[in-house]
Amino acid sequence: MSTYRIAPSILSADFARLGEEVRHVVDAGADIIHFDVMDNHYVPNLTIGPLVCEAIRPHVQVPIDVHLMVKPVDRIISFHPEASEHIDRTLQLIHDQGCKAGLVFNPGTPLHYLEHVMDKLDLILIMSVNPGFGGQSFIAQALKKIRAVRQMIDASGRAIMLEVDGGIKVENIAEVASAGADTFVAGSAIFGKPDYKATIDAMRQQLASV
Ligand code: DX5
Ligand code: ZN
Repeated sequence: MSTYRIAPSILSADFARLGEEVRHVVDAGADIIHFDVMDNHYVPNLTIGPLVCEAIRPHVQVPIDVHLMVKPVDRIISFHPEASEHIDRTLQLIHDQGCKAGLVFNPGTPLHYLEHVMDKLDLILIMSVNPGFGGQSFIAQALKKIRAVRQMIDASGRAIMLEVDGGIKVENIAEVASAGADTFVAGSAIFGKPDYKATIDAMRQQLASV
């Protein structure tokens, strides 16, 4: 189905050749570039920031989906609600900058943060690993959460993307889609193999069977 989106996470790309890597993965069929920002504070890893985002922006036309794993959060795209003192204000700041806004839920974070802000969301991101590193295994409990969020989105009547991040591979993408997700982050599954197109094509083939 063409409504599914594949979002390669550049966390597993070759950082010394990032411009080439993002062009390559978009040519291979990626819909979105997933950009993981980690601060060695909210998560135990330190990655990239705005300068790198600016540097890769001219290389591709697709949206860059900025996943902030930083604390505190301020005026950027998707963030973890427990890392913000004022969730509603942060969402407003993001929109004021002309960006789409999303909330991210760790495996152990309850969904109640959604209750009063559904009308301000463009994206809900369910973490299927604990954030901080690529290459971890999918936590099956996330499927239940995805089903619950799918119901909430449908009930809201709003076009909110339901994205899943962590341990997504060709082997499990169909199951995750069946639970209700429409946007799939995949880092090591795509950048960990030499032929990006073969992996993305295989993912789309799995999605076509859902
Ligand atoms: C983890 C990051 C992910 C990571 C996913 O905290 O948010 O985006 O790159 O990596 P894989 O797909 O290898 O689990
Ligand atoms: Zn991520």
